[in-house]
Amino acid sequence: MTTTASSGSVLPLLLALITLSVHLSGTDSANILGVFTSHSPSHLIVHMSVVKTLAEQGHNVTVVSSMQPKVTHKSIKHIVIPLSEDEERLLHAGMSGIAKRKPSFWSTIRSMFSSLILLIDKQVEVLEDERFTQLYENKDNKFDVVIVGYFFNTYQVGLGAKFNCPIIMSWSGPPMEMVDGFMGNPRLISSVPNMNVAVKSGKPMNFTQRLMNLLSTNAMRVLSTVLDYRFDGFYRRLFGSDKNIPSYAEAKKNVSLLFCNSHAISEGPIRPNVPGIVEIGGIQIKEKPDALPQDIEEFLAKAKHGAILFSLGSNLKGEHIQPEIITKIFNALSSLKQHVIWKWEDPKHLPGTASNIMYKKWLPQDDILAHKKIKLFITHAGKGGVAEAQYHGVPMLALPVFADQPGNADKLVESGYGLRVDLLTLEEDELKAAIKQILGNPSYAEKLQRFSKLYRDRPMTARQSVVYWTDYVLRHHGAPHIQSPLVHMSFVASNNLDVYALIAAVLYVVYLVLKIVFKFVGRKLCGKSKAKGPQKKKVKKQ
Ligand SMILES: *[C@@H]1O[C@H](CO)[C@@H](O)[C@H](O)[C@H]1NC(C)=O
Ligand SMILES: *[C@@H]1O[C@H](CO)[C@@H](O)[C@H](O)[C@H]1NC(C)=O
Ligand SMILES: *[C@@H]1O[C@H](CO)[C@@H](O)[C@H](O)[C@H]1NC(C)=O
Repeated sequence: MTTTASSGSVLPLLLALITLSVHLSGTDSANILGVFTSHSPSHLIVHMSVVKTLAEQGHNVTVVSSMQPKVTHKSIKHIVIPLSEDEERLLHAGMSGIAKRKPSFWSTIRSMFSSLILLIDKQVEVLEDERFTQLYENKDNKFDVVIVGYFFNTYQVGLGAKFNCPIIMSWSGPPMEMVDGFMGNPRLISSVPNMNVAVKSGKPMNFTQRLMNLLSTNAMRVLSTVLDYRFDGFYRRLFGSDKNIPSYAEAKKNVSLLFCNSHAISEGPIRPNVPGIVEIGGIQIKEKPDALPQDIEEFLAKAKHGAILFSLGSNLKGEHIQPEIITKIFNALSSLKQHVIWKWEDPKHLPGTASNIMYKKWLPQDDILAHKKIKLFITHAGKGGVAEAQYHGVPMLALPVFADQPGNADKLVESGYGLRVDLLTLEEDELKAAIKQILGNPSYAEKLQRFSKLYRDRPMTARQSVVYWTDYVLRHHGAPHIQSPLVHMSFVASNNLDVYALIAAVLYVVYLVLKIVFKFVGRKLCGKSKAKGPQKKKVKKQ
């Protein structure tokens, strides 16, 4: 009896295992090319986490990037085409310009643009480098899909045609203006705030917020239209000589899929996305943390009152910030009972020494945030770090500087996950008060715990989504059938301008007809009264 019963349950299991393994071998190891030219460590971490997941599945991954990646896998082949020293220096100068100056609007805009232009132009040069062109000129290479990391580089859509394979885009934030464009995702919707407008989840935008949303979305659209001319130029420079490559406008209609590092269900905003947009928020976060380096582990073990992690991210280095500000931060942090781990690049010039502060050049941030002793994360509010803290339920104190950071900071304050202090105008007492407020009030941690539960509750994990949808594109050699028709529609058609024009024309004709009819009827009536009128007049005159 027992044997039949057990064989009865074992047999289906075996069958299931066999079909599963057949299914798995259905998608053979594919040759995947990752092109991550954006010169930002935090973007690279996200894109590398995507391809690392694919390498773990046995795919053959080659990656081209402009900096050495921190996340990797032993089977991934790397081609690093670095910036020249001059370019690195220019970029740093731009950053420190932003971080040091008091927020004068124009100077901020100017340094931002010069850094941005450098970041955009450099990406073209990476693709012109022989180490990259080798990849398609060498006929032994064959790629089944190319994954492009998105950052102001729409012209790289030509790589699909160049390598004669489908193209997937990876973007390190939630859907926004530029990626919505080539994915055919509905853009300006009055209920969906853009990246820079903070709205409490479940609450509609009020009038002011909708006005700001409309204006900033359209400003972004104007910027992306202007940039598109530049991109068209880059496209011709890179692919113009190749007769087999379609035009830029055509190539933009050929993106199969977009991975977005966001999770709207827990983070908001709730918005419709076309099926080609796959959210993989938190792909860079390890499901199980690695063991910490011994010195950090010991330092945290000694922290009787809990510990604080302080990092201003990878773009902004200590030298970019005014020394007075650093001193104020040091004074505030060294006066605390809590232990502090401070990410600091230059071990020769420390902000000061204190028994409760440990400086580290490079930190396993994700693993540290997972540690139960960490009570607060002081951050520049970059998307990556915020997501990690949210995943691990750690309250935050945001010191945003530029780009999407102020928007992220406002959002986390709105959600009750922490507070915001301005880095450029920071005062010692203000910083201390904010830290005490967050550590002393359990509501921040409670809200984050609730969020953390929602964030992890998904039908497929971020990793499973990456594997499934990449294999999907490989199986079907692209995904034109899930593509939004909006991609193929003109500005006039996608906004129904022609339909409105027709309706307006019909209404105008109706108006004209009615006008004639009324004139006619009016004349008839008037005619009668006129017929009487002159008579009366005549009578009066007489
Ligand atoms: C991986 O892909 C590259 C590019 O097509 C190819 O040159 C290389 O031989 C492949 N490696 C393996 C182990 O298949
Ligand atoms: C709209 O909401 C914002 C943010 O909550 C608030 O600061 C502002 O006062 C509101 N404006 C109006 C007109 O209600
Ligand atoms: C892109 O073009 C290729 C042919 O070059 C085609 O096979 C693929 O289906 C297209 N993808 C989309 C999303 O249209």
